[in-house]
Amino acid sequence: MKINKEYTETGDIKYKEKLKSRIAELKKKRNAVIIVHNYQRDEIQDIADVTGDSLALSQAAVRTDAKVIVFCGVHFMAESAAILNPEKTVLLPVIEAGCPMADMITAEKLRATKQKYPDAAVVCYVNSSAKVKAESDYCCTSSNALEVVKFIPNRKVIFVPDKNLGLYVQSQLPDKEIIPWQGFCPTHIRVQEEDINEIKKSHPGAEVIAHPECNPEVLAIADHICSTAGMFKYCRAAKASEFIIATEMGMLYRLRKDNPGKTFYPATPHLICPSMKLTTLGWVANSLETMTNVITVPEDIGANAIMALKRMLEITGEPKTAMIAGY
Ligand code: 13P
Ligand code: SF4
Repeated sequence: MKINKEYTETGDIKYKEKLKSRIAELKKKRNAVIIVHNYQRDEIQDIADVTGDSLALSQAAVRTDAKVIVFCGVHFMAESAAILNPEKTVLLPVIEAGCPMADMITAEKLRATKQKYPDAAVVCYVNSSAKVKAESDYCCTSSNALEVVKFIPNRKVIFVPDKNLGLYVQSQLPDKEIIPWQGFCPTHIRVQEEDINEIKKSHPGAEVIAHPECNPEVLAIADHICSTAGMFKYCRAAKASEFIIATEMGMLYRLRKDNPGKTFYPATPHLICPSMKLTTLGWVANSLETMTNVITVPEDIGANAIMALKRMLEITGEPKTAMIAGY
C-alpha cells in the first residue's frame, strides 16, 4: 500500500483541521465525492458529502457527477459501488477494511449448497463479496430483506451469509422455507439480552431499537427492528424521547445530531466494528493524494453480480435513504 508519511494520525485537533483542509483541496483537484457509512468515526462523518446505509450509498455513487468516489466504509460496499459504476474510480482508503461476515462464505461453498437445493432461490445480503453476489439470484439489504424474499416465487430460499437476518426473515414469513447460512456479524452478536435488561432498569421508558444482525433473543425483546437507515427514520418520527440502540456505535453520533431533544444509549459499549473504525482522516487524505486503493471487479463477475443487485432494485425501487451532508 502506498502511504504518504505526512498523514499519520496524532489525535491533535489542529492537525485534524489541517487534514480536513487538505482533504477539501484534494477533493477539488480529483473531482471526488466522499461517501460515508453510518458506522464511520465521527470526524469521517463530518467530512461526508453523503452518509447513509450500504446500499443507499452505492446508489448515491451512481447519481454523482464526480469522477472519483472515496468510499469510507468496508470492502463489500466499495465493491458494490464499483459494480454499479464501472466508469468511475472507486477508492477504499484502507484496503484491510473488510467485513468478517462477508468473508464467512465463498462462491465455491455457495455453489455446492445450491446443488443440494436445486429448487431454492438464493438471496444474498449486500454484506457479501462480488463473487457471492454473482452466484445469487437476488441481493437484499437489512431494510428490504422481507420485501425481497416475499416477492420471489420460490418457497425455498437459501439465505446468505447472515444467519440472524435469515432467521428474522423466517420468523416474519412462515410460508417460506429459509435455509440460512451460518455467518454472523462479530460486532452485533456481542449484545446480549441481559445487556438490554440491565440498561432498561435505569431507563424503563426507553424504546429498544435493534439491527436484525443481532441475536434472536435480543430481537425478541426489541420494540423495533430495522436497518441503520430505518433507525434514523423511526427515531425522528417516534414520540418516545429515550432509545436504547442495538447496533454499531457510529450510529449514535448521527442520531444525536439529528435529534437534539432525544437521548440515545448504546445497548452495550462493546458495539464497535473494528473494520469500520480503520478509516481515519489521514487515510482519506492519503487515498486522495496517492489514488489508492482502487477497487475493481472483473467484468464477468460484475456482469452477474449486477443482475442480483438490479433484481433487488426492481422489487423495491431505488432507496431514498442516503442523506446529503447538512440535510
Ligand atoms: P446497513 O446496510 O444497515 O447500513 O448495515 C450494514 C452493516 O454492515 C450492518 O452491520
Ligand atoms: Fe460487517 Fe458487522 Fe462490521 Fe457491519 S458491523 S461491517 S456486518 S462486521
